[in-house]
Amino acid sequence: MLAILSVLFLCLSNPVCGVFQKLYCSISESCDCDFKPNIRDLEWDLYKNVYGQHLAQEIVSEEVARFLQNKSPERPLVLSFHGSSGTGKTLVSSMLGNHLYGSAMSSPYVHQFVPTLHFSLPDRVKEYRKELKSWVQGNLTECARSVFFFEEMEKMPPGLIDVLEPFLGPSHIVFRTNYRKAIYIFIGTTGEEVIKKLALESRQAGRDREEIKLAELEEAIARAVYNSTTSGFFQSSIIQQKLITRYVPFLPLSRRHVERCVHSQLCQRGICGRSDVVEAVGGDMIYTPAQGQYFSSTGCKAVPAKINLFL
Ligand SMILES: *[C@@H]1O[C@H](CO)[C@@H](O)[C@H](O)[C@H]1NC(C)=O
Ligand SMILES: *[C@@H]1O[C@H](CO)[C@@H](O)[C@H](O)[C@H]1NC(C)=O
Repeated sequence: MLAILSVLFLCLSNPVCGVFQKLYCSISESCDCDFKPNIRDLEWDLYKNVYGQHLAQEIVSEEVARFLQNKSPERPLVLSFHGSSGTGKTLVSSMLGNHLYGSAMSSPYVHQFVPTLHFSLPDRVKEYRKELKSWVQGNLTECARSVFFFEEMEKMPPGLIDVLEPFLGPSHIVFRTNYRKAIYIFIGTTGEEVIKKLALESRQAGRDREEIKLAELEEAIARAVYNSTTSGFFQSSIIQQKLITRYVPFLPLSRRHVERCVHSQLCQRGICGRSDVVEAVGGDMIYTPAQGQYFSSTGCKAVPAKINLFL
């Protein structure tokens, strides 16, 4: 039985073996069977349903495509999302999960860590370090294609995340396990100040939002997460060793983006035509700075609640 399984397993990467693969996957719980990345759908989803985030759209589709096209990557893909709440960080991360695994975000190979849930007591960092390391190691042994989301990084106790350093580097091979196919996504608000500042300056200078380049922000974000005491990456060796593949800035949203969110949610409820509601919700948000009122302070976050108010 084991021999048959092995032969079938070898087939997984070969299209001629499609029939065998189906057979194998019907009796196996291998994660390769659930791993069904669809880059084109991911790109389309990002392009169509994320508003005002040209950098995130570009970086995420480019990096994920490049990473998955490489059959034996030299290091895992490590993306770090930064920006205020309501700008689309969670939306983009769930799109990633949805288009990588057949069973989407509920796949047993997609793992989410939330500090307020998993690591809530700052004086237990030592135990958390052991736990996190053994979880990630265990998960990777089960499935090299595991995806890890670390949410609310601004609430992650400093010192904890460094335990992952050996997994994120270029040459970490432990007995029969290649750790380099994993994907890590860190999500947090740290860096929002530098992002907002650049967005504001660029707006005041009359530049197009789409002209903002990653290169203008990358260094500043890295410095902010490294230096900020309210950052899971505070003085982290992960930042020092440059183990983050790309920083992904999420820009503050302006009124027209918020209104697109409202419109899209109305359409999901089957009432696309209510432009009065779009207008009302757009007008009811708080915009900053007082002079100019360029950016929504809550992004698209409060949109569903506000829609209910105006329906
Ligand atoms: C994988 O990670 C989860 C936490 O997301 C943990 O509960 C589980 O025990 C881990 N699996 C293994 C095999 O270590
Ligand atoms: C951040 O840290 C760097 C390197 O440790 C230091 O040179 C810099 O002055 C700090 N910047 C800020 C804004 O705190």
